[in-house]
Amino acid sequence: MERTLCIVKPDGVRRKLVGEVLRRIEGAGFRIEGLRMLRLNREQAELLYDIHLGKPFFEDLVKFMTSGPIVAILLEKENGISDLRDLIGETDPSLARRGTIRGDLGGTKQENLVHASDSPLRAEKEIPIFFPKTEGEYKSAGEVR
Ligand code: CMP
Repeated sequence: MERTLCIVKPDGVRRKLVGEVLRRIEGAGFRIEGLRMLRLNREQAELLYDIHLGKPFFEDLVKFMTSGPIVAILLEKENGISDLRDLIGETDPSLARRGTIRGDLGGTKQENLVHASDSPLRAEKEIPIFFPKTEGEYKSAGEVR
């Protein structure tokens, strides 16, 4: 089983597409292990996108990601990291295949609805930003933050 992180970005929340994204994720066989709605602060957004630091779109990306609430989703599935990347489609929605979340629901290169960890290393870094407890703790009943 592989754990990965999906984020419905501020544009997805504004466009009321949270339910649609979750429906597609569950329909593709993922198990939702954790779910949080929150507004990122600048520090968290910079940490999430630290690999893009210095790129021309970095500042706008941080501004966008902190512009409103997001939904962070902790997911589990066999081959989950690459399966989730396939499900969301290309970064630029105009290039994303039909049947993918970005391909079907549209958006722009920056405001592209969803984020997904792109490697095991990134998943390991990104998951604790939103779900700091250790593996397994989200499976038990009781408080989930
Ligand atoms: P995501 O898959 O979350 O990873 C990095 C994000 O940076 C990407 O989705 C887009 O939101 C944004 N991004 C990547 N490339 C560009 C670009 N050329 N112009 C604007 N935003 C970009």
